[in-house]
Amino acid sequence: MTTVVNLQGRLVPTDEAVVSVFDRGFLYGDSVYEVVRTYRGRPFEVDRHLARLRRSADRLALELPWDERRCRAELSRTLEAARGDGADAEAAPWNAGEKSIRIIMTRGSGELGLDPALAVDPRAIVMVTPLKGPPASAYREGAACRIVGIRHDAPEAVDTTAKTGAHLANVLALGEARRGGAHEALLLDREGRVTEGASSNVFVVRAGRVETPPLAVGILEGVTRAIVIELARSAGVEVREVPLRPADLEGADELFITSTAREVLPVTVLDGRPVGSGRVGAMTTRLHDLFRAHADRAVGAR
Ligand code: PDD
Repeated sequence: MTTVVNLQGRLVPTDEAVVSVFDRGFLYGDSVYEVVRTYRGRPFEVDRHLARLRRSADRLALELPWDERRCRAELSRTLEAARGDGADAEAAPWNAGEKSIRIIMTRGSGELGLDPALAVDPRAIVMVTPLKGPPASAYREGAACRIVGIRHDAPEAVDTTAKTGAHLANVLALGEARRGGAHEALLLDREGRVTEGASSNVFVVRAGRVETPPLAVGILEGVTRAIVIELARSAGVEVREVPLRPADLEGADELFITSTAREVLPVTVLDGRPVGSGRVGAMTTRLHDLFRAHADRAVGAR
């Protein structure tokens, strides 16, 4: 089976995996979600993902329909039902045959209207799909990114540290990047500071130091970002969480992005121009190796 959907605790065929047109996730993006991945078929960093789901829900005052125990149980059951897929021939070795697990919780449906109190039946959904990571060639050659014109959502509007279903700015940003031939969009805030990718966090390497925008600029605390910072610091690499401008990216020795499906992905082209030497840099490779070893340890030791 390629895709397995768990709707409210029921495994359903994909053509029956539908939610009501009155669901507020559909109408307003009034939902929270997480994307977990597997290594060797086992879910990775579930604790951190479920803790972030809880935090996202708290920020929206959205009552989660499942508690943490139920989430874990449903996640395992759905993953189990999706076992046994073939692998994509172009996948990087660590992505071949792996799964992506999307957990979505919506405030539910009710009478039409913005008032959250109108919601009566919160929905819980788990979708397991084949993991679509970058191809192996992207890790050898690096990917292209584009700083797009669409600005990042202001953290003063909806708390951007919450992982919500309201994603229009990210959708449009990625469209702009893809039309320009880039893999990922990088978004600036209203002051022109670099924030994050449409679905990733961004890092630069300058003079042997690693720098990334601080959470205070209003970005998602990526699980991969947090792990990379921890691993780098414990290996003695200096990591600074500091505001960055486009010029800091343009003048960087190395650039990379992080996310669940990408791990540590080198970026060798920014806005059509080479970054640093234009080749994958030594620090990016080192951090990716540290991450790979961490992922192997996390799922392999059991
Ligand atoms: N996206 N920033 C944004 C806006 C994101 O949507 C994501 C993840 C990240 C990276 O977070 P993590 O390392 O926890 O995956 C940063 C998920 C994977 C997605 O929407 O597919």
